[in-house]
Amino acid sequence: MSDVLATIDQVSREADAELALVRDADQLEQFRVKYLSAKGKVAQLMTLLGQVPKDQKPVVGQRANAVKLHVREGYDGKKIGIEQFASAGEVPIDVTEPGKPPRLGNRHILTRVIDELADLFGRMGFARAAGPEVEDEFHNFVALNIAASHPARDPLDNFYLARSRPDSPMRLLRTQTSTVQIRVMETTRPPIRVVIPGRVYRPDTHDQTHLSMFHQLEALVVDRGVTMIDLKSTVMQFVQAYFGPATRVRFRPSFFPFTEPSAEVDVWFDRAGGKGRWIELGGCGMVHPNVFRSVNIDADEFSGWAFGFGVERIAMRKYGVEDIRSFVENDVRFLQQF
Ligand code: DAH
Repeated sequence: MSDVLATIDQVSREADAELALVRDADQLEQFRVKYLSAKGKVAQLMTLLGQVPKDQKPVVGQRANAVKLHVREGYDGKKIGIEQFASAGEVPIDVTEPGKPPRLGNRHILTRVIDELADLFGRMGFARAAGPEVEDEFHNFVALNIAASHPARDPLDNFYLARSRPDSPMRLLRTQTSTVQIRVMETTRPPIRVVIPGRVYRPDTHDQTHLSMFHQLEALVVDRGVTMIDLKSTVMQFVQAYFGPATRVRFRPSFFPFTEPSAEVDVWFDRAGGKGRWIELGGCGMVHPNVFRSVNIDADEFSGWAFGFGVERIAMRKYGVEDIRSFVENDVRFLQQF
């Protein structure tokens, strides 16, 4: 009897193994004919029953029936799987089609311009410095020789912060990166040669050329024997290295409390149809002796120059941007051009 049972189990294992290899409806039909048709292997198992003694027929019969059910169930399950696969295939999936690449972001154009400027000045021997955006009046005004009566200190022209106690010092969002000139000179003795890129804040109405938050690039050089010639030649070198060797620059006499003499720097902005114009980059000048006094640098021994340029102005001139508001509107179509 054990031979007969072994034969039944053998057929069951063969059927499992073959069913596992079935991939489509044709192969499944071949499987059905081989195992489950009237003359198939499962039906043949039933004929074995005739060969066993009568008392063993129930055991062998049960085993043969169990195998028949098992093979039938396996076949039915496979059939459902193949039919579902076939209907899913009605929407053809082309596995050779290239995928959709994820869109890569890029650094903001102003971040890039700031890094380009810091790099360029780095090659001219300038270190990069930074300072806080929330400042006190000493660093934003007093040490920069801006008197208490100066209109620049008008609350309407500054973002003063609410004070936690009536006797705590006034704080404000810095209106200029010149504050960091003071911070650098408080902690470093000459020779000093730094550039300071950073945000500044002014309560201006937003329009094509004004934002209430924008960026400046400040520079400060302090050493023995530094003159206005160094200032002019450094600015010319910078402008021609950054905007191109033919770029026109002009210095106009001006006034700032922290420099004497002072000048404003303009760069020629060429535009189609003869519509070029001068764009002001910012101010510059020789460091005022009062500024040196406030940080205990001997103004008889040392001299220095400084400038503060608008980074947005520089970016607009370099990349032909017509409206300063584009930098902060977060329109991807604008941002991804750079
Ligand atoms: N701080 C000035 C401003 O925001 C710009 C400036 C002028 C900076 C002259 C300087 C300078 O360092 O020497 O308008």
